[in-house]
Amino acid sequence: MGNLVTSQSRHMLPALPYHYAALEPYIDAQTMMLHHDKHHASYVENLNSALEKFPELHGRTALWLLLNLSKVPLKIRTVVRNNAGGHVNHSMFWLAMIPEAGSAPLGPLAEAVINDFGSLERFKLKFEEAGNKLFGSGWVWLARAQQDGGRLQIYTTSGHDNLMMKGHFPVLVNDVWEHAYYLKYQNRRSDYLKNWWAIVNWKEAARRFERSDHSAVRDWEDDGGLVPRATR
Ligand SMILES: [Fe+2]
Repeated sequence: MGNLVTSQSRHMLPALPYHYAALEPYIDAQTMMLHHDKHHASYVENLNSALEKFPELHGRTALWLLLNLSKVPLKIRTVVRNNAGGHVNHSMFWLAMIPEAGSAPLGPLAEAVINDFGSLERFKLKFEEAGNKLFGSGWVWLARAQQDGGRLQIYTTSGHDNLMMKGHFPVLVNDVWEHAYYLKYQNRRSDYLKNWWAIVNWKEAARRFERSDHSAVRDWEDDGGLVPRATR
């Protein structure tokens, strides 16, 4: 019976949770449009086309693929790593920002930031410093070291690697690829990093922090969508 039906599952680009201009003046509308509709969309497209000939991977989420690269055929492993990573990271990144953001974390995350970094200001400086020091394209993360209630730490990853690949649980993430800021900030990545605090979604960061003892895969799946959908 199964052979009579062809089914193809495709990863989907999540909608941006606000309009393109919502994060102005910190991130301009054109950057947001290109970043979401072109860059993120192309990662999803590339991921789908890489998987086309591998039906055994069609039911897997992008995060599962990233965390199980050894089970992905060698022929497409690098493409899957780059594009599933691009897809997962950008999906988190859109949610990490919000217009009219609050200025500071509240509750348990606020306490943890003070315990682990001394103050919110020190944390912000260290996060900016990590972003400035990262050579080339990559991501800056605030994460819980491992997924066992460990301390908060700042990490960077190159390309589109996701921190969950190293077993850490991301709480907050910023994209420091040039495509994230170049139109408005040109070479001034440090200004981008400094201005970014005005649009950080602390509520989402707090929510992630409170789930940080969950398995990353379960958290990703509980967030809904993003499981490949059958298209025919
Ligand atoms: Fe990006």
